[in-house]
Formats: sequence, structure tokens, C-alpha cells
Amino acid sequence: MFKDFAESSVEPPSDVCKECGTPKQIGCSHLTKLNNSEISDTSVQIARERLLEPFHLPTHAEIMKAFPSYDDWHKFWEKNHIFELWNKEYISALVDYLADRVAKLGKLRIVEIGAGDGKLSRFIELVAQEKGLDADFEMIMPTDSNKWVLNDNISVVKESYEDAINIFRPNIVLSSWMPPGQDWTKTIRQFDCVKEYILIGDCTNCGDLEQTWGNFNFEEPFHVDSFEREVLLDLHRLQISRGDVFAHHNVLGTNKTHPYSWTVAFKRV
Ligand SMILES: C[S@@+](CC[C@H](N)C(=O)[O-])C[C@H]1O[C@@H](n2cnc3c(N)ncnc32)[C@H](O)[C@@H]1O
Repeated sequence: MFKDFAESSVEPPSDVCKECGTPKQIGCSHLTKLNNSEISDTSVQIARERLLEPFHLPTHAEIMKAFPSYDDWHKFWEKNHIFELWNKEYISALVDYLADRVAKLGKLRIVEIGAGDGKLSRFIELVAQEKGLDADFEMIMPTDSNKWVLNDNISVVKESYEDAINIFRPNIVLSSWMPPGQDWTKTIRQFDCVKEYILIGDCTNCGDLEQTWGNFNFEEPFHVDSFEREVLLDLHRLQISRGDVFAHHNVLGTNKTHPYSWTVAFKRV
């Protein structure tokens, strides 16, 4: 976890549930008066099946309600190879962040590398359309080498991350849950067309802690290559990923939701 941001990540914002610190726009078991015993097995099963539909973007609260216990949630992400479970509030905030970058970067040419099933790009595109912002997005292209092929990804362009950037010449690169132990960022920074890259994931598992995220206090690789880092805390608070503990699971002996995954922008200076 980023030392300099660790404190602020657990500090609840002002507009939060008094019981567990979950932002009110997300909702939590207290705010929605969720009583686990009132949820039937059938409704939970239906809710979980919906989460797997290719075009369904659930709300944050909808995801939490589908998993009354941590054990259920754990089995679900493991069985379905889920790294990040995209939710409406997160994608909406990400689209707003990206649209704000147009003033600086011009129309957005976004390439997602190692995109897996391609849902992140698809949802960004759909939400941008819903918000009437699609004109800002010249391209949003999910790509993947298919090295892992965990889930159906027929709408994803089959290219290695390096070839994808070389072919599509993006100004923004997106990477969610870079494979562990591999650092792709050095190569990303070498492409002049790339003005920013955004990493999503658990920094202790994705890529290389030092090379990819620059977590230590000595010369950080992104700094050396003239990039600056911005941890997008408002997005971090909305994330749901494998390993997360939801407020109502209470397995850590606290009643807080703990997002493990981060969203971090690296911008060319
Ligand atoms: C941990 S998964 C993450 C998938 C997706 N981004 C997500 O968040 O669910 C890593 C992905 O990287 C892809 N991958 C591995 N090596 C690659 C490479 N050299 N170039 C492009 N993609 C690669 C794998 O096929 C896999 O889909």
C-alpha cells in the first residue's frame, strides 16, 4: 500500500454512513437496512448470476448485497476469475476523470492492455455514451495477448501490450491487474504518444511493487522517466476487487469496507 496515502485511504469522507464509513452514494448494509437473514438463497443466486452477464453493470450496493458472507464472495471471485468487479459508481467516476483530461490531452485515444474479458473498456464506452461524453473518446480499445484466456473475450483485440500501443498509438493506456512479477510500465513510458497511463490493481500483487508503482522512497522509475504519480483516492474508495472485505462481513473485527485495489494515474510532465 502507498505509505503516503495509507492513512487517507481509510479515513472516511464526510458524507458517509456513521456505522461503517461507507460513502452514502455507494450504500451499505446499514443505509439500505440490509438484513442478511431476509435474503433468500434464490434471490442471492439470481443476483450473482446477473453480475456475470456481459452487459450488466451493477451498482456498488447490488454487489455487496449478493454476498452476505465473505466466504460466498471469496468462492465467487475465485471460481469466475474475477480480479476487479466493475460497478456503476466507479465507472461513472472514471469516465468523469477521463473526460476532464480532454482539456489537457485532446480527444482521448485509450488502449486497455491485458484487458482480459474487455468489460472495463466496454463499460467505459457505455457510460460515456449515457453521459453524452462519447465525442470526447476517439477510441477505447480493449486488447490482450490471450496468454491467460480466463473468460470469454471475443470482442478483445488479440495483441501483446507492446504491439497494441505500437499499433493504436494511444494518448492514454489503461491496465487493470497487470500480471504479477512483470513490469509493463517501462515499455509504456517509452512510447512518446502516451501522455498518461492508469493502473488499476493491488500494488502488492500486480506488476512489480517498486518498478511498476514506485512505492519506495528512493528514485522512483516513473520519476526518472519524467512522469508524475497521482493516486485517485475518490476512485479507490469505490473499487471492489478480489480479497476485499465488505463492511457487513466484519471478518477483520471492524465494520469498515476495505478496498485492496487502487487506481493510480501516471502523467507525463
Ligand atoms: C490478471 S489478468 C487481468 C485481466 C483484466 N485486466 C482484469 O482486470 O480482469 C492479466 C491479463 O494479462 C494478459 N497478458 C499476459 N501477458 C500479456 C502480454 N504480454 N501482453 C498483453 N496481455 C497479456 C493475460 O492474458 C490476462 O488476460
